[in-house]
Amino acid sequence: MKRISATTLALVLALGATTAFVAPQPVAAKEKAPKAPKITMSEAVRKSLAEVQAALFRHKMIFFRDQKISHADQEAFSLRFGPFAPDAYTQGVPGHADVQPVIKEADQDIGVIFGSGWHTDSAFLPQPPSISMLYAVEIPPFGGDTIWANSCLAYRTLSPTMQAMIAPLRVHMSMGQVVATAQAYQQPDDTPLGRVAATRDMVHLPDAIARKVAGSFHPLVRTHPVTGEKSLYCDQTYASGFEGLTADEAEPLLKFLVAHITQPAFTCRLRWSVGTYVLWDNRICVHQAFNDYDGHRREMYRTTIAGETPR
Ligand code: SIN
Repeated sequence: MKRISATTLALVLALGATTAFVAPQPVAAKEKAPKAPKITMSEAVRKSLAEVQAALFRHKMIFFRDQKISHADQEAFSLRFGPFAPDAYTQGVPGHADVQPVIKEADQDIGVIFGSGWHTDSAFLPQPPSISMLYAVEIPPFGGDTIWANSCLAYRTLSPTMQAMIAPLRVHMSMGQVVATAQAYQQPDDTPLGRVAATRDMVHLPDAIARKVAGSFHPLVRTHPVTGEKSLYCDQTYASGFEGLTADEAEPLLKFLVAHITQPAFTCRLRWSVGTYVLWDNRICVHQAFNDYDGHRREMYRTTIAGETPR
C-alpha cells in the first residue's frame, strides 16, 4: 500500500467550516518545512480509529489521496467502522459481495447515472447505512466529481420557528422516484440502475423493489447517535412526502428543505484522482455524482457500513 503523509491525512474537507486542519503557509515556508512523518490510511485508523471517526463526524466527509488498495484491503478497512450494510442496488464484485462496483464505461450514453440527484444512501431502508466509502480506480480527464452538502449546518441555520414547526415530522423515504426515472431513461442491463430499469412499470415490481418503493418513515430532524448533532434527514431523490401531510402540503416543504440543504455555502465538491478514498456519514450530509464525462470511463468501488434505526 502506498504511504501518505500525516499532512495529507489531516487534509480533511471541512464542510461548512472555514478551514481544514492545515493552515495556509507562504510558499517559501512551505519549501523549507520538514517532511511530515509518513503514515498509511490503514495505520491511521489502527492507531486512532477514534480520531478518524471524530474528524469524519465533525467534517461530514473526509478523504485520503494516493491510496493503492485491493478489494480485500477495502473490506478490511471498512470493517473497522462496523459491519457491512445490506446493499440496495448491487451484489458486489466476484468474491467480495460487499464491495460494490460504481462504474460507467466510456461508451455508455445514459440519461441518469448511479448516484445522480442529491441523496443520502438507501434512505428508504428501515436502517439506512451510516458511513459510505468510495475508492477511485479510474477517473475521467474532466468531470465525474462528487459534491456533498452539510445537513447539520442546514438544520442549525433554520429559524427557531421553522425548527419547532418541523420537529414532529416524519419523512417518507422511497425508491419510487429512482424506479420511475430508471424505467423512463435507462436501458435494462446488468448495472445497478439497469436492473431497476428492467422492471416494466410500478405495478409489476419484484417484491424486493416493491418493499423499497413502499420505503420507510424516518424523523425529519435526525440526531446523530454518537455526537448528538441534529441534521435535516431529507433529500431530492428519496424524500417523497411526510406522514400526515397531503402531497400538496408536502411538496413545497420538500422543495424548500432540499434547496436550503444544498445551497452552495453548505457544499464542498471533490475533484477525484486515482487512489482517492473518501468516507462520508450519510446521517449528516447528502451527496450527488455528476453525469458530465461522456466518452470517458470512471471506475469506483463503494462499501457501506450498517446504520441504526434513525432517531
Ligand atoms: C454514490 O452515490 O454513492 C456514488 C457517488 C459517486 O459515484 O460519486
